[in-house]
Amino acid sequence: MPGKHFLQFTDFSRDEYEHLFVRSRVLKDRLRRGELYQPLQGKTLAMIFEKSSTRTRVSFEAGMNQLGGHAMFLASKDTQLGRGEPIEDVARVIGRMCDVVMLRTYEQTIVDTFASYSKAPVINGLTNEYHPCQTLADIFTYIEHRGSIEGKTVAWIGDSNNISRTWLQAARIFNFKLRLACPKGYEMSVLDGIDYRGHFEQTHDPREATEGADLVSTDVCVSMGFERESLQRRVDFLSYKVTGELMKLADKDAVFMHCLPAHRGEEVDPDVLDGPQSIVWDEAENRMHTQKALIEYLLLGKIDN
Ligand code: CP
Ligand code: NVA
Repeated sequence: MPGKHFLQFTDFSRDEYEHLFVRSRVLKDRLRRGELYQPLQGKTLAMIFEKSSTRTRVSFEAGMNQLGGHAMFLASKDTQLGRGEPIEDVARVIGRMCDVVMLRTYEQTIVDTFASYSKAPVINGLTNEYHPCQTLADIFTYIEHRGSIEGKTVAWIGDSNNISRTWLQAARIFNFKLRLACPKGYEMSVLDGIDYRGHFEQTHDPREATEGADLVSTDVCVSMGFERESLQRRVDFLSYKVTGELMKLADKDAVFMHCLPAHRGEEVDPDVLDGPQSIVWDEAENRMHTQKALIEYLLLGKIDN
């Protein structure tokens, strides 16, 4: 699929996601059986990080290695990007030397600009606005545990941030409903101009959002880049915690998800995060399997072996 980027969840069609899920399953099973599958020998993934990461770095690096390629970690502060080299120039240079680029940064405009100057496909590894790789893994994980997500209700408790905004994009593509409960003043701003009516409900009451939900999810109340708002946010989000009591309002088969890192006792209670409904560790592991499928698709197109 030369020339295609993965910058927002809306960049791919339902059909493309169905393909990625099939491939994620194949690649996950193959790895578990210990079979080598290395179609990307000689290929290089550049990973540029302007923010911290554990899962994104490790999943991309391990995944690229498993596919036979090489992953290069670039902390922006150690490169000329950190000394003010224009993103357009960096994109032109890295795009000529590497086969695929992953960028974790601040504003979405940075990753968009990078992509428009890069000859190599660009993957959004998290921006202030979106985290499409996370949602890709999340939907795959839900399907793995409960089957199709179509027609289901996803309750999101907390911040209308990069993760919940990407869930919203997924709701329309996979035909489910996102019910967001956030404090007053933190309502979701839809940035892509898409009409989400029928797929989105917003409330200030976590109980209302969770009632009968098939999946309950949350995230930190202070995302990277918003640290200066920490004190105020910790007060404003006090009653937006996923507790065992809240989970009782969800469907009896509901699962709990969290992109991690989590703060036990802040946005989620330990008995939920570490409890029987939580599928967060599979969710984290699936970052690697789904991103391998994504890189394979971006570099080689639709493979079916
Ligand atoms: N969920 C996620 O992207 O984690 P990291 O910040 O550790 O990469
Ligand atoms: N919303 C969080 C997600 C971290 C993976 C952040 O942007 O910091």
